Order: sequence, then structure tokens, then C-alpha cells
Amino acid sequence: MKMRTHRCGELTKAHVGQTVVLDGWVHRRRDHGNVIFIDLRDRFGITQIVFNQEMNAAAHKRAHELRSEFVVSVTGQVMLRPEGSSNPDLGTGEIEVRAQAVEILNDAETPPFVIEDEADVTEALRLKYRYLDLRRPKMQRWLQLRHDVTQQVRSFLNGQGFLEVETPMLTKSTPEGARDYLVPSRVNPGSFYALPQSPQLFKQILMVSGADRYYQIARCFRDEDLRFDRQPEFTQIDMELSFVDREQVLSLVEHMISLVFKETAGIHLRIPFQRMTYEEAMGRYGSDKPDLRFGMPLQDMKEFAAKTEFKVFREVIAKGGMVKALIVKGGAAMSRTRIDALGETAKSFGAKGLAWVKIGADGKLESVIAKFLDVGKLRAAVPEAIPGDLLLFVADQPKVVHDVFGRLRLLLGEEFGLIDRKLWCPLWVIDFPLLEYDEQTRRYVALHHPFTAPFDEDLPLLDSDPLRVRAKAYDLVLNGNELGGGSIRIHRREIQSKVFDLLSIAKEEASAKFGFLLEALEYGAPPHGGIAFGLDRLVMLLGGADSIRDVIAFPKTQKAQCPMTDAPSPVDPEQLKDLHIKLDKIE
Ligand code: AMO
Ligand code: AMP
Repeated sequence: MKMRTHRCGELTKAHVGQTVVLDGWVHRRRDHGNVIFIDLRDRFGITQIVFNQEMNAAAHKRAHELRSEFVVSVTGQVMLRPEGSSNPDLGTGEIEVRAQAVEILNDAETPPFVIEDEADVTEALRLKYRYLDLRRPKMQRWLQLRHDVTQQVRSFLNGQGFLEVETPMLTKSTPEGARDYLVPSRVNPGSFYALPQSPQLFKQILMVSGADRYYQIARCFRDEDLRFDRQPEFTQIDMELSFVDREQVLSLVEHMISLVFKETAGIHLRIPFQRMTYEEAMGRYGSDKPDLRFGMPLQDMKEFAAKTEFKVFREVIAKGGMVKALIVKGGAAMSRTRIDALGETAKSFGAKGLAWVKIGADGKLESVIAKFLDVGKLRAAVPEAIPGDLLLFVADQPKVVHDVFGRLRLLLGEEFGLIDRKLWCPLWVIDFPLLEYDEQTRRYVALHHPFTAPFDEDLPLLDSDPLRVRAKAYDLVLNGNELGGGSIRIHRREIQSKVFDLLSIAKEEASAKFGFLLEALEYGAPPHGGIAFGLDRLVMLLGGADSIRDVIAFPKTQKAQCPMTDAPSPVDPEQLKDLHIKLDKIE
């Protein structure tokens, strides 16, 4: 076999006249009788090869045997394409290679789908034959993009004095709140490792160790319900810094993210990024990760609702709930069927109902509840709503109202084409509450994790009004996606104990779960804080992919399975015996 002289994306006019050797896959073959064309493909591009019967009968004969995805080595001469046949969409579009010889390095079964970007293939098939799927140009671009992003991140952080440190995969449960993946220990019968949900505890310990600035492109494992932006196994750009405050972390990270966008995708993000408190994000957009590419803020209707004759509204307000509204511009044109369907959607999101009012062209209200509403007072309460608009109302406890409208807003923004796909709207959501009250377990739970530091000025509230304590936590949101989250950590024992008390984490429990961290914090822990970004989500957004599955080389399905390897799968009874594991009957 002759060694290749060039790659398939490399040849231009400058190479005309040279004899070259190219290796690659047969992307496409077109047979015009005396002339056969193949497009030869490798990771770097596509080159057109011409087999001409009159010029080289032997090579032309061989070309008849070539089929899609055969692996071949072609020797030939680089020629300018004839007038009018160059292809401006292709880097190599001005030239072609006149084949003198072709060697078949390997043949190939007919692939179950064509290797094209727009091929109509189910995801199950794509994942089963991932090696073929990954040959598609789009997938190759995403692999490259992911590589570029991690290289930019590494080079930026290396320049800022960070150390890249690996932390264990076989470890103990970490506090991110999802279910753990467990690994049985053969040599410690009955004991299990947990795969890390994040390197959280280790990176804090590295700060105690004096590492000062740590990062890792870290694999994390969470056994949770999967979605387009959630995989059981995913990657974080994980970092932690000593002797910093929130401003320093945010500023450093803004520089890193804007560099990544510029260098890998030519996108300019203006820094500093916009900021919004958690309270404002929830109140105005019903979400802790608002998509700011469009407006449509929620309208607070409390005063109007408290005085209206519509009983549902009045009663909810009297019970300490809230009433909010969305203005759908031009929505009065929506059909009754569509509005009823929206009502059903709202119910599926947890609402008890979705009241609606159309403002007619004459300014009159059109609605089943119009008779209860005073048009003047309503118009005064939402002056932005004009004739032709539709108002949607949800009355309930704040959590329900925000949750329902947060989701309806996105749905309507999409339906009415309000989302400008060219915009990039990074946003820091800050000043999260430290705690939430969980009605089910009737206890406080940490909104981030239990090591997040409270605001210094809110410390007295830990005793008097814990739900009002704000945390030194921050999330980076981009176009409605949570890209990353982190916080300044608690580095003093007495505050940590107090937070554990509030979270009803008993001393024994704390020591069993995180004892090693708590102990480490006793040996001179510096003030520290950090953040972790979802690398998969970052690459998905940068590359315009629909799901993080597209930017992970070997992802899992919604059911956390891998159709290519068939993982997870039953194991040999002997293996179970070695691990001292007996299976319960599985239905
Ligand atoms: P958090 O749990 O917010 O924080 O995770 C950080 C980021 O990781 C991404 N992410 C995921 N991506 C894909 N699939 C998943 N299942 C998944 N879960 C999370 C998100 C998220 O913003 N230790 C803390 C960070 C810190 O405090 O420094 C942590 O893990 O983009
Ligand atoms: P009803 O009086 O129950 O027939 O409701 C009249 C209208 O109010 C219907 O359109 C319901 O969907 C709506 N509605 C009922 N409960 C609520 C609620 N909690 N919030 C908003 N709208 C509601």
C-alpha cells in the first residue's frame, strides 16, 4: 500500500499537475459509462476522483467494483475541473484527481443509512451504528468543535495559573442530589462505591491542599430522568479557586466563555454578562433560567385580582396566592380550540385552570369570565395590552404560577416566532435563596448544595428567617439553558454546622456522608469558590445541535441504554457471586 500524500480536504488549484495518493471512503459513485466519478471522503473533506476509460482502462474497470463506504487508496494527477464544473461549496471544488490506479483496502457492507447530513434516520439506528453515524460531516464537525472547546478552555485556564487534577471515579456519594450509580466492591463484600455526580468534594479538598486553582474536564454520573439536555454520563468543565470572591469568579469565567465563543465559533459575547436576581428571574419570567431572546414578561395582577368579582382570583389572593398574566400580542386571533388546548397544556403543567380574555378591536373584552371583569380596571392594570391581544391568567401559589407560565411563555414564544435565533443572551442568575422548604419531607433543602456560603449580611437570618437567607451562588444561563452553576463555599466550621442543622442533617449523618470534607475544613481551609459548566450543553449550543446526544461521541438513549454495545446487560452469575450479590426476582 502506498502511503497517502495528502488528505481529502487539502488539494487546491496550487496542486494542479502533481501526482498524489489519497486514502478514504467512497462517499458517492456516479457512473456515466466512459467516465466514473467517485467522491472520496475522509475527516478532512471530499475530493472528486475521475476514472476515464480512454485514459486509463484498468483503473476505470476497477472503479466498477467500488461501492459506498469501500476504503480505497487512489493514485492520480491533480487537474483543474473543466470550465463550468467547479463546485464553490467544496474546499476542493476547483480540482479533481484523474485516477491512474486504485487499490481497494477494504470492502464494506451496504450501510443501513446513507452517510449524509440530512439522511432520514431514526436515532435508534444512528446509535446502533454510531461509527457510521459519526462519519457524517455534521457529526465530524461537532467532534471537532468539542475538541476545540476543550483545547481553548485548557489553554485559557493554564494561562491563569490553574492546575488540571484528576479526581476519583470510584468514590463516595456526592451532594448534587440525583441518584447515584453504584459499583460493588469485590474485595469489600457488601460495600459500594458511588460514581461521582461531580468532583465537588474533591475540588474543595484540593483547595485545602493548597492547589489554589484547579480545573478538570470531568466526567460526572447521575441516575436521573433523561432529556434532550441530560445524560446519565456527562462532562463538566469543573473549576475551583482559592482566595476569591464572587466578582472574581464571575469575571474570570466571562473571559473564558467569551474566548471560547470567539475562537471556536466566531461569536462575540459582550462582557460583563447581564445579571438578574433569582427573584426577578422567577417573578418576571417564571424560570430560574429565562430565555432573554424575547420579552413577554409575566404581569403581576395581584391588586386587580384582589378586587375583581371573579371568585377564583379573589379567593386565591385571599389565601396568600398570586395571580399573574401573560400578554400574547396579536393573540386575540387565536381560535377557541387553540386556547382550550393551551388550557389543557397549562393543566398538564400543574395549573388548575387557564383563564383568558381577548381584547377585541373595539376594546371590549371577549371571554367566558368577561362579565366578572371591569374592562377599565383591567386595561389600567396591564396598560401594555392593546386591542388584538390575548391575556392569559393563572391563579395559584407562586410556585405553580411561575412554573406554568415559565413553560407557557417558551411555548408561545416559539409558536409566535418571537425567538430571534441569531441572538446570544448570556445571563448570570444570582442571589439565589440558600434554602427552600420541601412540603413533602417538611424540611429545608439546599437550593444548590449544602456547602454553598450564605451572604455575610444575611447570617443573622439563619436563626430568624432562614428562607430569606441569600446564597453566594450563581448560574450562567444562555438562551434559556443552564450552562453552569457554582458558588462561594462555606469555609468555616461554625457556619457549616449551622447550615447542616437547618437542613436537619444530623451530625452522624453529616459525618457519615461528608466527614472527610468536614474534617479537611478543620485544617486551615482557605476561602474558596468555583463553578462547573456542562461541556455537552456548551457544545450543543455552539454547534446548533438539538440535543447533547449529538455532541457526545457515544451517548445513551432516553432509557440510559447504548444500542451499539447493548449496555447495560445482565452479567454472568459467577460475576455476581464474586461480588456477593444476589438478584431479587425481576418481573
Ligand atoms: P450542577 O449540578 O449545577 O453543579 O452541574 C453543573 C452543570 O452541569 C451540567 N449538567 C448536566 N449536563 C448534562 N447532563 C446532566 N445530567 C447534567 N447535570 C448537570 C449543567 C449544569 O449547569 N458541583 C456543582 C458545581 C459547583 O458548585 O461548582 C455542580 O455539579 O450544565
Ligand atoms: P370555572 O369558574 O371553574 O368554570 O372557571 C372559569 C375559567 O377560569 C376557566 O377558563 C378556567 O380555566 C379558569 N380558571 C379556573 N381556575 C383557575 C385558576 N386557578 N387560575 C386561572 N384560571 C382558572
